[in-house]
Amino acid sequence: MESITRRGFLAAATAATAGAAIADDTAAKEEVRDPFLGTQGEPLKVGAPCLQSPAETTMGVSWAVSGLSKGVVECADNPAMINARVQKSGGYGLLPIDTSALQVRLTGLKPATRYWYRTVTTPFTDYSNIYDAKLGEPVVSKIYSFSTLGSGARSHFCAINDTHARWKSYQLVAAKLKELAPAAVIWNGDATNTTQKKSTAVKIFLNPPIDDSDWAAELPTMFESGNHDFRGSWISRKEEVVLPRDPAERRSDQWDLKWNFAVRIGEIAAIGLDTGEDKPDGHPKWFGLANFSPYRKAQAEWLAEQFKRPEIAAAKFKVVFCHIPLFAAPGSAAYPHDGAVIDPEDFAHWSRECSELWGQTLENAGVRLVVCGHQHCYRFDPPSDGRNWAQVVGGGPDLNRKGRGPTVIEGFVDGSDKLRLRVHDLISGGLLLDTAV
Ligand SMILES: [Fe+2]
Ligand SMILES: [Fe+2]
Repeated sequence: MESITRRGFLAAATAATAGAAIADDTAAKEEVRDPFLGTQGEPLKVGAPCLQSPAETTMGVSWAVSGLSKGVVECADNPAMINARVQKSGGYGLLPIDTSALQVRLTGLKPATRYWYRTVTTPFTDYSNIYDAKLGEPVVSKIYSFSTLGSGARSHFCAINDTHARWKSYQLVAAKLKELAPAAVIWNGDATNTTQKKSTAVKIFLNPPIDDSDWAAELPTMFESGNHDFRGSWISRKEEVVLPRDPAERRSDQWDLKWNFAVRIGEIAAIGLDTGEDKPDGHPKWFGLANFSPYRKAQAEWLAEQFKRPEIAAAKFKVVFCHIPLFAAPGSAAYPHDGAVIDPEDFAHWSRECSELWGQTLENAGVRLVVCGHQHCYRFDPPSDGRNWAQVVGGGPDLNRKGRGPTVIEGFVDGSDKLRLRVHDLISGGLLLDTAV
């Protein structure tokens, strides 16, 4: 082409050559190391199980593996595992195997009942083809225990937020959760930063490099995404690591509301909502991929329906969990940053859209408390005119800046007609808040 200068042609030719070299190199590496060909003599490492998406009659179990393997969970109503039931991964047809994370959903459980369980993970040492595939020795975990949720469960939750893969502060959170031992933990978003590959998500959710990496083996976790949990080229597949709610919990046209929950934790009805990204869908950073406004509207419909369910309507204490706050006091420094328009700070302090879509429903249903994160700074907003629910906002992962450190938000029923609410400051070891709502 006449229009291409010699300099331009050389640049293009160099780029094409360099690209070819990278492709060849990658192909060579994949040929040697393709993990789907089996563990190939590497010993299989298996992480502690993580309890996910608990419900009255189901419990999810996910765990990290270091190589191609299959997994089952054995579950029994006694610690000796007598008459244990074996639950395989997946559903009908071919059961999934994987090189980094396995997932099983236990079903048919009794509400508010204690069970014992262990994972059994068997590596494929060689999977060059189906006819010659070979299994290695199964790795059997130690026996752990959990209790299902329901109106008869202990009325005790903890909420954590904005751990952001900052391991020192995450360890403080994990240790406090083990100490408090609630019936369920609500993991209220921003667990991640930017997730470009599955191994990052596996490390954060299933196998963190902290002393108490097994904290979720006996504490069921209910995850709600934060804005960061939508960032990165891999993150749209996070259900491969964070098991969604059982599809049977919702209508078929609501199956894409994968992590929304409305479940009884004793006298508490816990409702989980996803506030999505913290900037408008039209923000240039989203490259046209953001579709959060319709998502928030679909959740508004789902939310109103949940409060009509007899077991949710009958709960004495209704508590909502979502990552981005639903309220900022007019006139406060946070108030202008509402996520509704492209913000000069590029950071929403609260979500006006979620507030407008969900706020009246929370009011009508008698919700007492909304638990949030996102701001990386503890905050408590007592009820005020026209808003009968209190809002509590947890802290962030920064250990070096006063007021920005990690918290655990704890709620429990102490026999009074109010819900006891505590916010644990994990730096000082003291309480930032001890009140009743
Ligand atoms: Fe955050
Ligand atoms: Fe956030």
